Amino acid sequence: MNSARSIVLIGFMGAGKSSVGRWLERRTGLTRVDTDEIIAAKYRISISEIFSKHGETAFREAETEALRELPPDRPTIIVTGGGTILRPENVEILKRAGTIVWLQGDEETLFERAGRRGSRPLLQTENPRETFSELMKKRKPLYQQVADFRVDTTALSHEEVADAVLRKIEGLAQHPR
Ligand code: S3P
Repeated sequence: MNSARSIVLIGFMGAGKSSVGRWLERRTGLTRVDTDEIIAAKYRISISEIFSKHGETAFREAETEALRELPPDRPTIIVTGGGTILRPENVEILKRAGTIVWLQGDEETLFERAGRRGSRPLLQTENPRETFSELMKKRKPLYQQVADFRVDTTALSHEEVADAVLRKIEGLAQHPR
């Protein structure tokens, strides 16, 4: 584990990264940063609007920029977007920051959760279910490769996931690999 000891949440849309990040913030007292929130605040519009007005590349640039600007030595709860791990530079920054936790889950459950708010620009397609499945297939190996460990969120509340994350991190600290 990294000495900076930030907790980095990665995973697909609908995994509950933002909500679990809020629980982790409450439990640990650490500051939470959410890259989507940083980007939306910078542009002063929603993530969907950034995608439609400026395009995905501009969003990805802003995502990397937000990561580059993270406080280097302060332990933080870092909540990422589902596609953050697509860029090797982002992965390097996250690895340096601390422990990377993959929030995973059953595909159907994640799709149901991700579709709920209708706010995912990447799912504004003819067949969102198929798009979801294709993206997930492509990204799964990346999450797997990058994560220090994973938590299956399918049957857990956000609070339970946060507790599971903290238990695992404690376990890692006591029995380093
Ligand atoms: C994205 C996921 C979104 C957001 C953007 C792109 C992705 O975040 O960053 O719409 O590429 O999977 P969530 O994972 O919080 O939905």
